Amino acid sequence: MRFNLQSPLGLGSLCASVFSFFSGQDSGSVTHHPVLPPSYPLAVRNPYLSAWMPSDRVQHLPYSEPQFWAGQDLGWSVIVRVDGQAYSLMGVPNPEASDIRPAIVRRAEFTATHSVFDLMAGSAEVTLDFLSPVSPSNYLRQSLSFSYLTVHVSESKGQNIQVYSDIDARWTGKAGRSQRDFEQQGDLAIYSLTVEDAPLYAEADDMALWGQAILASRPSNFSAVSALSGKPEKVRGEFAKFGALSGEDDTWSDGSVVALVHDLGYVTDGLSVNFVVGYERNAAINFLGEAYTGYYRAQYPTTSSALSFFLDDYGNALLESWKLDMEIVTLSAATAGPKYADIIALSTRQAYGGIDLTISNDTLDTNDVLAFIKELSSDGNINTIDVIMPAFPVYYVMDPDYIRLLLEPVMKYLAAGRWHLPYAIHDLGTHYPHAIGHDDQQAEPMPIEECGNLLVLASAYVYATGDTKWSSQYTEIFQEYADYLADNSINIATQLSSNDAAGPLANETNLAIKAAVGLKAFGEMSGNKYYSRIGEEHASLFFEKGLGTDIQKTHFVLEYPDYPETWKTPYNLFPDVLLDLKTFPDAAYRMGSDFFATVRGEYGVPLDNRQDWAKSDWNMWLAGTFDTSTRDEFVDDLWAFMTNGKHNWPFSDRYVATSAHGNEPGVPILCRARPTVGGHFALLALKGPRSIECLSSHAHRPASESAEKTHGQNHMFESHEL
Ligand SMILES: *[C@@H]1O[C@H](CO)[C@@H](O)[C@H](O)[C@H]1NC(C)=O
Ligand SMILES: *[C@@H]1O[C@H](CO)[C@@H](O)[C@H](O)[C@H]1NC(C)=O
Ligand SMILES: *[C@@H]1O[C@H](CO)[C@@H](O)[C@H](O)[C@H]1NC(C)=O
Repeated sequence: MRFNLQSPLGLGSLCASVFSFFSGQDSGSVTHHPVLPPSYPLAVRNPYLSAWMPSDRVQHLPYSEPQFWAGQDLGWSVIVRVDGQAYSLMGVPNPEASDIRPAIVRRAEFTATHSVFDLMAGSAEVTLDFLSPVSPSNYLRQSLSFSYLTVHVSESKGQNIQVYSDIDARWTGKAGRSQRDFEQQGDLAIYSLTVEDAPLYAEADDMALWGQAILASRPSNFSAVSALSGKPEKVRGEFAKFGALSGEDDTWSDGSVVALVHDLGYVTDGLSVNFVVGYERNAAINFLGEAYTGYYRAQYPTTSSALSFFLDDYGNALLESWKLDMEIVTLSAATAGPKYADIIALSTRQAYGGIDLTISNDTLDTNDVLAFIKELSSDGNINTIDVIMPAFPVYYVMDPDYIRLLLEPVMKYLAAGRWHLPYAIHDLGTHYPHAIGHDDQQAEPMPIEECGNLLVLASAYVYATGDTKWSSQYTEIFQEYADYLADNSINIATQLSSNDAAGPLANETNLAIKAAVGLKAFGEMSGNKYYSRIGEEHASLFFEKGLGTDIQKTHFVLEYPDYPETWKTPYNLFPDVLLDLKTFPDAAYRMGSDFFATVRGEYGVPLDNRQDWAKSDWNMWLAGTFDTSTRDEFVDDLWAFMTNGKHNWPFSDRYVATSAHGNEPGVPILCRARPTVGGHFALLALKGPRSIECLSSHAHRPASESAEKTHGQNHMFESHEL
């Protein structure tokens, strides 16, 4: 098949403008703006579309392959041909085999939604701009399982330019059983890669085997597109030689690539072309036996229609992303300084990259939207309550409805009476994408943790949106868990908390704090002041009466009674501050501002006195309860970890903070790419719900929904519908 089309439509040359408030950082000859991150997000949109470029590969970007979040290498190359000479920009391990020269990498940058690399290809300046939109309130844009690669060629002296990109079968999770397909819809060219006979919902090392990896593009008014698949040396060699591809696909084998080329011809003004890389699953989630699919499928039920829309939407998505990047950097720098802005920018795509936004695959009913989140890298659980909990500050800031969208599948399951234990469930299924509950009652037991989390999350949602209609449907369930906390959170049986790696404890003070705050939150949300009073009584017992502190009240202890020397970061105080609950007096927070300076390691404060590792999400929560100087120390320490150049994973939320136990400080442990980095937004969240204002309105949200919502804390907790 030969594919060579011209289109009258086009995206023009929206050039990759780049903002940088802060000076860059050098690593070799490449400058990194605003700083060197551990890894650059390239296409990061959901648990199965998550491609990253480890920062230690950026220096050699023309040779370097990206990685799936879990660490598997992926084939994804980009090549530009300038006046007959091809230069690899990314991902060509053996350029000489195809008569390709490596370009020279000049600069790398990340913003909240873009990763941008500037290179010199001979005399041409070329920019690779990887855009993964973050548009939580625009369900259509957010749910599309695709990402943009824009290749921009700067204004030049009339050079003859062609641009090439390919992906390989490693994107499918099982290259040895892969097959490729080519589809041409109008002027749209689509290669898809699938695994033969892949069972529905099957994973291999966290990659989806079902569904399809996508490479697509279409000509713009100034370019022609051609296509080819086959052995990489051959396909790339054909491009290097002719600047176009013959369309005569070779036999497919597991090392093969699928490639698309834009021929721009003689370029005098700066020009950009777009490629789309994606991973589409038709049935995306198994929710209690029913298939759920991407929200966008209500409007764009076929892959080609979804891709056409995605390309049409580029201009709007780009404008929104620039506004969002700018607002995030400005607001977070104003909140807690430029280092905090760097942390937030690197966390944004990752926070939303753990989520799928879905509707029923049968009904495509957009009034029934559910969000699912994967507990990436720890165990793959689905809609883990103590993953939604640490992440919730990002939803609170960007679009608090996500708290409801993520809780709703769990609440539906609980309301169906299928969970019989007296405390809240840990998650909605052992492994993504199976949201099938635990009818065998065998979820990981974290009784106080999850009861407290659920009450705090529901309250945070109602506090931010005023939507008591949602919460009042589930009052009975919430009240059952409030009763459980009232009865079980002083003499606390041996149990795990969220940080299960630290092991179980009896009488863990931080759980008692969570319970007190959860009780007060439920009391305020429901209007049932009985629970508010119990929460306050518990708080008074643990703080004023000193059950949870040392005698001098310098800090909260790890466990009580009688362990005055122990301590743990009491991050469960954060929602008390955020939701203005006043369960604990100010003096309880002030303790920490003084105490934590005394137990600070090279990279900050560990989780508790037993560990040498810190949790970045909880530390940002805790920082939200401090005075600004202690808060800034916590921000400095997390930033130091993020930028120390010692590691190359997607942002890890767990790392060695101190050398006190003989381990190398500043290196990550186990956790990578987790959406819990949403917790880094805790300091921004203190600015109030929806404090990021530029996000596009709910263009595709059912009208019935937004009507009864009021915004902001002032209206909060006034209407009680018990
Ligand atoms: C392509 O079309 C866009 C508008 O659709 C226009 O702004 C741009 O100048 C055109 N580019 C060329 C090279 O014709
Ligand atoms: C999802 O919907 C599509 C389109 O109607 C259908 O072909 C497919 O079989 C459905 N998948 C499942 C698992 O129900
Ligand atoms: C836990 O604390 C309660 C209240 O102080 C106490 O009665 C109980 O003995 C403690 N349990 C353990 C295992 O120390």
